[in-house]
Amino acid sequence: MYDIEKIRSDFPIFSKKVNDHDLVYLDNAASSQKPQVVIDAISKAYSEEYANVHRGIHYLSMKATENYENARIEVSKYLKSNSTDQIIFTKNATEAINLVASSFGDNINEGDEIILSMLEHHSNIVPWHFLREKKKAVIKWLDIDKNGFVEIDKLKSLITPKTKIIGITHMSNVLGTIQPIKEIIELAHEHNIPVLVDGTQGAVHNPLDLSELDVDFYVLTGHKLYGPSGIGVLYARKDHLENMKPFQGGGEMIDQVTRENVTYASGHQRFEAGTPPIAQAIGLGAAIEYINGIGLDEIQKHERTISEYAKEKLRNIDGLSFLLDPSHSQGIFSFTMSGSHPHDISTIIDKKGIAIRAGSHCAEPLLHDFGVTSTCRASIGMYNNEKDIDHLCESLLYCKKFFS
Ligand code: ALA
Repeated sequence: MYDIEKIRSDFPIFSKKVNDHDLVYLDNAASSQKPQVVIDAISKAYSEEYANVHRGIHYLSMKATENYENARIEVSKYLKSNSTDQIIFTKNATEAINLVASSFGDNINEGDEIILSMLEHHSNIVPWHFLREKKKAVIKWLDIDKNGFVEIDKLKSLITPKTKIIGITHMSNVLGTIQPIKEIIELAHEHNIPVLVDGTQGAVHNPLDLSELDVDFYVLTGHKLYGPSGIGVLYARKDHLENMKPFQGGGEMIDQVTRENVTYASGHQRFEAGTPPIAQAIGLGAAIEYINGIGLDEIQKHERTISEYAKEKLRNIDGLSFLLDPSHSQGIFSFTMSGSHPHDISTIIDKKGIAIRAGSHCAEPLLHDFGVTSTCRASIGMYNNEKDIDHLCESLLYCKKFFS
């Protein structure tokens, strides 16, 4: 049984008041709260077992290295990667995508085409704009249908011999729709085109098997996965990594450095320049262990129940308009309220201890297509319950009296 009360008690922040109210945290798509075990793991990494990794042969350095590499094993198992060599620690998902755009993108030249879905958030747009600016590459946009899914037929028509990569989010951070990534990868591979899947939302809510998926690149970020900020992951297929130049230089990413020359390490090491985010990686490992302890399948089931409950309750609020019909959303709801600005709504309900996001959600092209610059967004995490949704809805109704 999903013990929601126990889970909530694992997160110390829920014992705090916000604006004199119990916290209702519905901003999980932006960043999630941290369980005590993650906080403890980070604290232990600094207070008991800290030194630099892969550099010392003294006890603390070896212990820190072991802990850091164990975190890589946890991530590798979580993603069902068939080798830890395919797991690169970065500072966040944004850095992971920049790494791919820079290193894999070295082979993208003038006139080459990059296909991006209209659902992408800026982290999976701007690094490709860099290639458009620097190399005169061409970005082609894949539209979505009325349910919030990319259109596979449109994708077929966008692919040409010049297509060098396809970038697609696993789960929209605005609409909450899970995209048909398996179909996209299969189609892309028929044309020998690699696919980068942005899993910043998807990896939090959906069990993954990246080996089976045969995805080329998959990225995630630790802070949305109940881990710390400052840590992200790039999963990259080995054949790509072997052919990619380093992203940054320094630290242990080398094989040898002489006055005249430099050669590079292989595997993930080539892409982890400088002192890595040691305690952050260990914290992410602890977050994944915590998730595994509950079971991602169970979390997914619970979140879907709360999501269905939220859909029904929100649908009944007069004056609330969803950006798109939420039938297919898995726990992320973007909406506006008639006669009021999303920032005002968010500010008013914050006074009642309710945290949602208001703004463009770092997805300006998508919002532009819908003809808006900003929405409210409520997003569900493993610790949300029906009561949270009730409080949200009561507060939205309360807001209405200011804007009638
Ligand atoms: N991309 C993050 C969000 O959706 C920051 O809020």
